[in-house]
Amino acid sequence: MVGVAVGVLVVATAGLGAWVYGDFAPALYEPMEPAAGVGSLSAQQCRVCHAEIHDEWASSGHARAFDDPLYQAELRHQPTTFVCHRCHTPLREQRPSETHGLWMAWPAIIPLSWPNDGFDPALQREGVTCVSCHQVDGHMLGPFDDAAGAPHPTRKAELRAVETCARCHQFGFERIGRLDRPIIDTVTEWHEYRERGGRERCADCHMPTEDARPAANGGRLRPHTNHRLFGPFDREFVAKGVIVEDLELVIDEPNVARASLVLVNGTGHRLPSAEPERYVRVHLSARGADDELLAERELRMERPVDVARLRELGPDTTLAPGERRRLTLELTDLPPDASTVRIAVDFHLWRNGELAREAGLDGDDLVHSIVQRSASRAP
Ligand code: HEC
Ligand code: HEC
Ligand code: HEC
Ligand code: HEC
Ligand code: HEC
Repeated sequence: MVGVAVGVLVVATAGLGAWVYGDFAPALYEPMEPAAGVGSLSAQQCRVCHAEIHDEWASSGHARAFDDPLYQAELRHQPTTFVCHRCHTPLREQRPSETHGLWMAWPAIIPLSWPNDGFDPALQREGVTCVSCHQVDGHMLGPFDDAAGAPHPTRKAELRAVETCARCHQFGFERIGRLDRPIIDTVTEWHEYRERGGRERCADCHMPTEDARPAANGGRLRPHTNHRLFGPFDREFVAKGVIVEDLELVIDEPNVARASLVLVNGTGHRLPSAEPERYVRVHLSARGADDELLAERELRMERPVDVARLRELGPDTTLAPGERRRLTLELTDLPPDASTVRIAVDFHLWRNGELAREAGLDGDDLVHSIVQRSASRAP
């Protein structure tokens, strides 16, 4: 009896493993050969001729996708990590081992992995490297139809299309665990932005076209694509997506402060999108003579998710694409020693203080101030 039960359990869990694995397979990329005339998959080789583009990319979140301290900190707390490598080190040549299936011994997921002969540790540290967007069938895809001077094969392609970004910025499966929608859902959100009349594609905002420059050292002038990748760590860029209108702050009765504003989503997706650690906070506070905090109220635009247990931890208050939301906050019973009241709108990059400290980040590193206004109280 026991033998049969164990047998049934083994077959059932193996079946479940294959089903879960089926959602992640096939891998994003087939094994890749270096392109003729380049001889390597590494950005270090592209740099020899595309120095400026390389240096922009090197300062981007994509170049950090593997050695990003937040990623490394989160990895250390994950029971299984094979799924993370899929997007953060997307090429097969970037992974020390390959996973070919899963055993589900509920609640544990045991990957069936073996060493990868083609592993290149230096390439692993490049994260989302040049060839993951540019190389297909040994050709470099790009905007030009006259790149005859290139030492490598080239092909004209519409790389600004959302498909270039979609394989990593959207989880394929609709439902997993007890989540209402995928944790990474940016492309679906972008389609909603387009339906509401939005015009830009991902790369138009995040990798804009700039003044003409040579695409390769010594080449002729071409429209230039900024590879720095503007994103949430850049305050000026974030301020284009977190727009505050009609801000009012009044103390209209001796002990009552009221603030109201319209928060506009200026991004091409929900605000915030993807990473559930980020949130926008609207904060009304009463302050004493030395700026000490005496009373406060806050509203958060966020989607708190337990990423390990795959469930929502509260209501999703992120702004829909194009949404304009009127928000009001009130402090009644202002303390007698409150000399000013302040309204502040901030963008928070990371809520989990412990993980952030482990990654060497803290305090001001993790908050962009978008707008702040104060009003004094009549003595
Ligand atoms: C489907 C592709 C995909 C998978 C699988 C994936 N990630 Fe990510 N990850 C992303 C994308 C895209 C972002 C950027 C999202 C954003 O900035 O909001 C990101 C951002 C992050 C960040 C934030 C980095 C920062 O500097 O803000 C961390 C940490 C992270 N991922 C950890 C993980 C871990 C751990 C796993 C495995 C459990 C994982 N990711 C699996 C695509 C993926
Ligand atoms: C030995 C020099 C050299 C190396 C190495 C090199 N390239 Fe190029 N590449 C060029 C030149 C020259 C051009 C043509 C520029 C022009 O026409 O203005 C070019 C063009 C391109 C284009 C535009 C293609 C098009 O049709 O629009 C892309 C994309 C590209 N390279 C990517 C890469 C990547 C990625 C690497 C590294 C894997 C790399 N290149 C390595 C010299 C090089
Ligand atoms: C091969 C997978 C992959 C592709 C393709 C890809 N991304 Fe990413 N992207 C990631 C990962 C992984 C991260 C998280 C990096 C990190 O850990 O900081 C990320 C982060 C980002 C960020 C946040 C950067 C930051 O400063 O934190 C933006 C913005 C972004 N990607 C935009 C794009 C756009 C636009 C495209 C298409 C032109 C694109 N990505 C294509 C995997 C990818
Ligand atoms: C996240 C995807 C992504 C990554 C990673 C990436 N590129 Fe690009 N690249 C693009 C997009 C999108 C364009 C613009 C194509 C267009 O306008 O049609 C582009 C354009 C180019 C061009 C054409 C010239 C120009 O300025 O438009 C060259 C050359 C190029 N990239 C080389 C590189 C090199 C070298 C690396 C690595 C150091 C790299 N790219 C990394 C997406 C990427
Ligand atoms: C209209 C311009 C615009 C378009 C189009 C756009 N974005 Fe963004 N995106 C922004 C702005 C502004 C921010 C900074 C505010 C923020 O971090 O939410 C941002 C933030 C992000 C982030 C960080 C997540 C977050 O909310 O903190 C990722 C990842 C990202 N975008 C990816 C994409 C991808 C992938 C696409 C296409 C499917 C895309 N974006 C289309 C403007 C745009």
